[in-house]
Amino acid sequence: MSRNQTPAIAGGDPAFPEGIGYGGQSIGEAEKEAVLDVLDRDYITRGPEVEAFEEEIADFVGADHAIAVTSGTAALHIAGLAAGLGSGDEVITTPLTFTATANAACHADAEPVFADIKPDTRNLDPEAVRERITEDTKALIPMHYAGQPCAIDELLEIADEHDLTVIWDACHALGSRYDGDRIGSESDMAMFSFHPVKNITTAEGGMVVTNDDDLAERLRSYRSFQMSSDHEGHENEPWYQATEGVGFNYNFTDIQAALGRMQLDRIEEFKERRDELVERYETKLDDIGGIEIPTVKDSVDPMWHLYAIEIDEAFPCSRGEFVRAMHAENIGVQVHYVPLHHHPHFQEVHGYSAEQFPVTNRLYDRLVSLPLHPGMSDEDHDRVVTAIHQIAAHYQ
Ligand SMILES: Cc1ncc(COP(=O)(O)O)c(C=O)c1O
Repeated sequence: MSRNQTPAIAGGDPAFPEGIGYGGQSIGEAEKEAVLDVLDRDYITRGPEVEAFEEEIADFVGADHAIAVTSGTAALHIAGLAAGLGSGDEVITTPLTFTATANAACHADAEPVFADIKPDTRNLDPEAVRERITEDTKALIPMHYAGQPCAIDELLEIADEHDLTVIWDACHALGSRYDGDRIGSESDMAMFSFHPVKNITTAEGGMVVTNDDDLAERLRSYRSFQMSSDHEGHENEPWYQATEGVGFNYNFTDIQAALGRMQLDRIEEFKERRDELVERYETKLDDIGGIEIPTVKDSVDPMWHLYAIEIDEAFPCSRGEFVRAMHAENIGVQVHYVPLHHHPHFQEVHGYSAEQFPVTNRLYDRLVSLPLHPGMSDEDHDRVVTAIHQIAAHYQ
């Protein structure tokens, strides 16, 4: 395919006859064998594989405890409850995130309070956070956008000053480093998602990590019905189980954990490939005006979950036209995210309007996530880049 060919939006052949998504998993033979092996065992739901995966994730991020659950959303849900959030409490978070981040507050009946972001890292702006603090603020939920860690030290300092719980939504950022260390051991809790587009996958799945023994106990209890097998006073009733509150069935399975353990073994290989693909984009898009690539802070080493570029005014067509032209090529670019203050729920129930948060809004008008996944070949990458050149030339 040549750079001079007609793009699909103008009648040419699409770059990908069968399509390519913005993200996707890479699963090898060893992972498949590990999953099949579990199916022959006694435990197929939460058993020894889950425990081993939890230990390995805790070890990997340097946290004392890891609690596996059914999704990143479930992890956020029980983290909000374990933090003791409740009615009247305010929780400051970013509007540039997936809805599950703010729902950690909503599920607990607390109020999600958005603060604007930094335009370079696309993460919560600590100064904006300070401005949103009131006497009702109980927690912060920063999210490491695309895998680039937030301003962790500044946010922890604010939390310390105001006695706030911090729940790090690290769903994008397993494997990212801040000041040399993998993220996940910061107070008070952090969570990861294992959805297929994320840094490793178990199909669906999530994990909360913490160094706090009490939080870990509460998280484990919420995950599994809030039921205890404590036999005190019931020594002669070995069947005894006591419901101590309203819990959930967020149990992760040994089938998923077997896949997760093998994926975790490959995470450095995945990171290397993601880094290579990002570098290729940087080099090969350099000669097109109007494309801004992500900025990386000195103190961080992101494990890039997304490669979100900005299409600015100098690009020959609008961001909307660009997305439609890429979709015509069967390239599933996406915009991460429609900011939360644009959604009907947050407007109708929490009083937000789409005009708020100017930094987020400006970025939202420009963002496009290009395909980035560890199984992507150089050839596929070249086809994406060529399609972008063709679209730019077409609209010139
Ligand atoms: C920032 C963020 N938080 C939470 C979630 C929820 O994770 P899951 O899909 O595993 O429920 C996602 C998933 O897309 C996400 O991107």
